[in-house]
Amino acid sequence: MPSAAPPAAAMLGEHPAIRAVGDVVGRIAATPVSVLVTGETGTGKSLLAREIHRKSGRPGRFVEVACGSLPETLLESELFGHVAGAFTGAVADRPGKFLQADRGTIFLDEIATASPALQVRLLRVLQTMQFEPVGGTKTQAADVRVILATNENLERLVAEGRFRGDLFWRINVVTIEMPTLRDRAADVPLLAGHFLRAAAARAGRRVEGFTPAAAAALAAHAWPGNVRELEHAVERAVFLGRGGLVDVADLPAAVTGSPATLAIPRPVGPPACTLKIALAHPERQMILDALARHGWRRDAAAKALGINRTTLYKKVKRLGMDLAALAPSDQASTAASVSR
Ligand SMILES: Nc1ncnc2c1ncn2[C@@H]1O[C@H](COP(=O)(O)OP(=O)(O)O)[C@@H](O)[C@H]1O
Ligand SMILES: [Mg+2]
Repeated sequence: MPSAAPPAAAMLGEHPAIRAVGDVVGRIAATPVSVLVTGETGTGKSLLAREIHRKSGRPGRFVEVACGSLPETLLESELFGHVAGAFTGAVADRPGKFLQADRGTIFLDEIATASPALQVRLLRVLQTMQFEPVGGTKTQAADVRVILATNENLERLVAEGRFRGDLFWRINVVTIEMPTLRDRAADVPLLAGHFLRAAAARAGRRVEGFTPAAAAALAAHAWPGNVRELEHAVERAVFLGRGGLVDVADLPAAVTGSPATLAIPRPVGPPACTLKIALAHPERQMILDALARHGWRRDAAAKALGINRTTLYKKVKRLGMDLAALAPSDQASTAASVSR
């Protein structure tokens, strides 16, 4: 079934990292540009996709497809539709999600799970907005804004040959990296209060807030499941608790059991700084644009950017870009052959 957007909840948060996300949304929502949303599970990627659609002013629907939840063959007919007789059980023509999202937005979640064959088809759709339903020969077209999400590092998958470089290049136009909740821990009280009020209203209970010990436990937890984990923990406390305040005993053991530093292994290397990464993106994009415009010749790209080749190499290294892997496949050999 097409999922018409339910009334979208607001994206809450005061931390600079989440404000930076809001700023980017404000700037790109009304444009037709594709958006790639990355981030751990529960950080708000799906919420953000809805928010972008809501602010886009596009009159069509918001249509969501969890690419990881369907086997490859079903996914193709889900996205592009099928004609009667295309396969056993296809008794009538059925439009796919791309057509349902005409003049609206399609949200392709878990994009890293797309099979190689589907990646090829997606690339073509993204380039031309044209496709054929499964079993059909008549080409269809749709005017669709595309938002994609993944909790995997696509650049790494490209480098490992598990995701097409040309597709990555096509979808990596605007990338929004959702901060983890532990990277914006200052927002925990605000979010907890919001989820408490919402759950109390649904439960029909009067719950005024958290005891100091419960608030301290919320603040100390590392939230590996991010905002979703916090939302569920607070909901559970409201539905199971008895008092006018949520106490430590009402919270899940996973939240109260171990302090933040023990709860999850920290990533190796320098701590993630989401704001810095967000700010680095335009630079990365400019470099990629310049390379693409100059057939991946680095001298020419550097010149176009007004910097010398050494500076370009330094920037590329600092941004952690693997140019050989990022180049469209037909130019990968050029990119590889000029690398040091
Ligand atoms: N900034 C936020 N403010 C309010 N609620 C949020 C925020 N981020 C996430 N949520 C809520 O947390 C839950 C998980 O968010 P979701 O978008 O599904 O995460 P993801 O798609 O990254 O796994 C949802 O119920 C969502 O409404
Ligand atoms: Mg999601």
